[in-house]
Amino acid sequence: MKLTFIGTGYVGLVSGVCFSEIGNQVTCVDKDFDKIEKLKKGEVPIYEPGLQELIFKNTELGRLSFTTNLTRSVQESDVVFICVGTPSLPSGEANLEYVEQVAQDIALAMNGYKIVVTKSTVPVGTNDKIKKIISQLSPHPFDIVSTPEFLREGSAVKDTLHPDRVIIGTASERAAATMVELHKPLTEEIMVTEVRSAEMIKYASNAFLATKISFINEIANICEKVGADVTHVAQGMGYDKRIGSSFLQAGIGYGGSCFPKDTHALIQIAGNVDYEFKLLKSVVEVNNDQRFNIISKLNHSLGNLQGKTVGIWGLAFKPNTDDVREAPALDIIKTLLQEGAVVKAYDPIATPNFRRFFRDESDVEWCETAMEAAESSDALCLLTDWSEFKEVDLKELNGVMKQPVLIDGRNVYSREQLSDTTFQYYSIGRPELESLSPFRNSVASD
Ligand code: UDX
Repeated sequence: MKLTFIGTGYVGLVSGVCFSEIGNQVTCVDKDFDKIEKLKKGEVPIYEPGLQELIFKNTELGRLSFTTNLTRSVQESDVVFICVGTPSLPSGEANLEYVEQVAQDIALAMNGYKIVVTKSTVPVGTNDKIKKIISQLSPHPFDIVSTPEFLREGSAVKDTLHPDRVIIGTASERAAATMVELHKPLTEEIMVTEVRSAEMIKYASNAFLATKISFINEIANICEKVGADVTHVAQGMGYDKRIGSSFLQAGIGYGGSCFPKDTHALIQIAGNVDYEFKLLKSVVEVNNDQRFNIISKLNHSLGNLQGKTVGIWGLAFKPNTDDVREAPALDIIKTLLQEGAVVKAYDPIATPNFRRFFRDESDVEWCETAMEAAESSDALCLLTDWSEFKEVDLKELNGVMKQPVLIDGRNVYSREQLSDTTFQYYSIGRPELESLSPFRNSVASD
């Protein structure tokens, strides 16, 4: 099939590349001339495992191309995907400016029947607006489809080629049949529904996952006070198939381009129809507070932070990505600087993106290696669970720090790993190191 993907952000670029990989003729369109020129040369604007290789391969095979010429690409395609951003407005609502502009551009370019598919995350009812825009501007027949995207950053290629499910929302049998055909090589779990339900499925899924994270983080906070270990609690809960074990990893909360934006947008969508989404409001509040756990733990172990040196490991909102949008590290480092601490920060790949958020770059010492960030520090805070940090030699780390205070915001280390060190170790929702063994009491009484 001949496909156009408009917007070469995470969703558009990864989806376009993956659909070329399964044999379609794909053109990726963006109005950013420099970005398109770089992509033509094989320079990928985002870090995503496996993406570069697939771009090279499919460009070579002639199945994938990049252009700024939206009109020509739309005219040559059967299916056109809208994959532009829907950033948050100050109210929390999604900004639909780019989506609506692209709908107009598609309408003006059309030369015959097209299937117009929205992959951008858009509030319920947006596809009806898109339909109206196109029908007002184009005499040609078309069908509208909502196919929300569920890929995760850091595993976007894998998620797109092997999705858990594909949701196709449309009122057209013809469009549904084409979309099922297109997605069949990826999965058998294809659900066809109406447009508004498809739009809602995306928001409801992200809101539910965010709820799981905030739930386990609150359980973690209680575990700390009652002496239970949240990793054991999550494991025990996860054996129940009705609960499931994923997204129960306690830590310093979620960040990224989706959960924060989509939870706010759903609260707003509900508010627009006079419904107060109380549960989701609390999920957001819990998440906003959770990152400041790190600061409380630092205050607990070091007291006043004025003049103290704090090393930071991890700036990206999660591992395997250089994306720092809504990363907990942003709030944490800003607070440390406000409290007068000296900050030494390291991330395997996200430092260049992160530095842009600091007007005076000299405020933070940007380090080239993990050990450099730890050297002579009064405390070290692990904020992103990169595998590099999991494999570090903890004895060596212990030796280079001024004070052996290790605050593990992602529960990366085990009791065994820490046993030969003198670390004062804090994690999230796990008792302090000396009380980690479940056999502590029985051994003591023997
Ligand atoms: C998410 C959804 O998973 C994806 O389906 C949607 O398309 C986009 O939003 P993404 O933001 O890329 O994907 O990352 P994800 O792996 O879901 O993690 C989001 C955040 O939650 C990260 O900050 C991560 O550290 C945090 N998280 C995740 C936890 O704190 N605990 C967990 O158990 C899982």
